[in-house]
Amino acid sequence: MNTYRIPRTDLVVSRLAYGCMKIGGSWDHSPVSAETEATARAAVEAALECGINFFDHADIYCCGKSESVFGRLLADTPSLRERIVLQSKVGIRFANDAYESGEPARYDFSREHIAHSTEAILRRLQTDRLDILLLHRPDPLVEPEEVAAAFDALHAAGKVRYFGVSNHTPAQIELLRRHVRQPLVVNQLEFSLAQPALVVEGVLANRSGSTTEANLSTGLLDYCRLHDILVQAWGPVGGGRLLRAIGAETGPLTACADLLAKIANEKNTTPDAVALAWILRHPAGIQPILGTTRAERVRDAAPADTVRLTREEWYALLAAARGQKVP
Ligand SMILES: NC(=O)c1ccc[n+]([C@@H]2O[C@H](COP(=O)([O-])OP(=O)(O)OC[C@H]3O[C@@H](n4cnc5c(N)ncnc54)[C@H](OP(=O)(O)O)[C@@H]3O)[C@@H](O)[C@H]2O)c1
Repeated sequence: MNTYRIPRTDLVVSRLAYGCMKIGGSWDHSPVSAETEATARAAVEAALECGINFFDHADIYCCGKSESVFGRLLADTPSLRERIVLQSKVGIRFANDAYESGEPARYDFSREHIAHSTEAILRRLQTDRLDILLLHRPDPLVEPEEVAAAFDALHAAGKVRYFGVSNHTPAQIELLRRHVRQPLVVNQLEFSLAQPALVVEGVLANRSGSTTEANLSTGLLDYCRLHDILVQAWGPVGGGRLLRAIGAETGPLTACADLLAKIANEKNTTPDAVALAWILRHPAGIQPILGTTRAERVRDAAPADTVRLTREEWYALLAAARGQKVP
């Protein structure tokens, strides 16, 4: 698998990343079953065999169990830590989470929460450092000076090497940048043929008969390119909706899914790989984060890196996904 360096860092990462959101099984505090643990290990090992060296986590995934599963794998394979890039996220709190009761579910970018949650992440992952820490979802009550202080302390202690954000708009990033001294090197965003708003808002700019997508008008993707912020695509196969729709009788994604299957057949590859190749084809150098928990689906997706879509194929897939050609 091809690699590239994340701008403004010394991190060389695979074009595809593996997302660990679901590897802990259920979103509660019940014990992880042996079956879930074995399935998770098989998926992570398949990712490594395919050349994936980037693993994405968050403190909330399966209520911390996804990080714990990964941490046990790291503990069993000590040499692995040096070979991978490890990213996690903080900032979302469930009601009555592990260390402090409190309702309702909320976002929390306070200095105290960022520090406390990052310590817990390191313990669960059984590592002394994260390569990248992201702020998970924008907190309307953010005080950028507090974020700056939290990041400074984590960085100075050698606990986090680089920082970034997820689901943030350009203005939200600008606000953080006013105080945060470390570069923000990643913005993780939902992007796929099932959710192409990031590119559609630009296609529809300045058109009459505006739609919701055009009204976004954030210029988010271009902003990230202009500021050398790596865009990571979460939900790259629409949470499975894109691929499950192949051959389905109805549903808005059916035409797109069937076209994925047709192109895959012509290129002697899998629909999974074509769906990811559509993301990779964008010149912003977007890094898709695979979310499957199944080793065989990781292997089906990995060839995406070798699939080159023509401009015509890229637009045909976009048109099919939107049920509408570009004007
Ligand atoms: N920053 C954020 O706000 C945010 C939000 C969500 C996710 N994420 C990150 O992004 C990663 C990926 O997100 P995602 O899980 O939404 O990605 P995704 O890859 O679009 O969706 C994964 C889901 O699709 C299913 N799937 C995959 N291939 C399939 C196929 N060929 N046929 C049928 N179903 C298929 C998987 O089921 P199986 O497991 O059974 O294969 C799984 O349930 C997460 O792990 C997490 O790291 C970040």
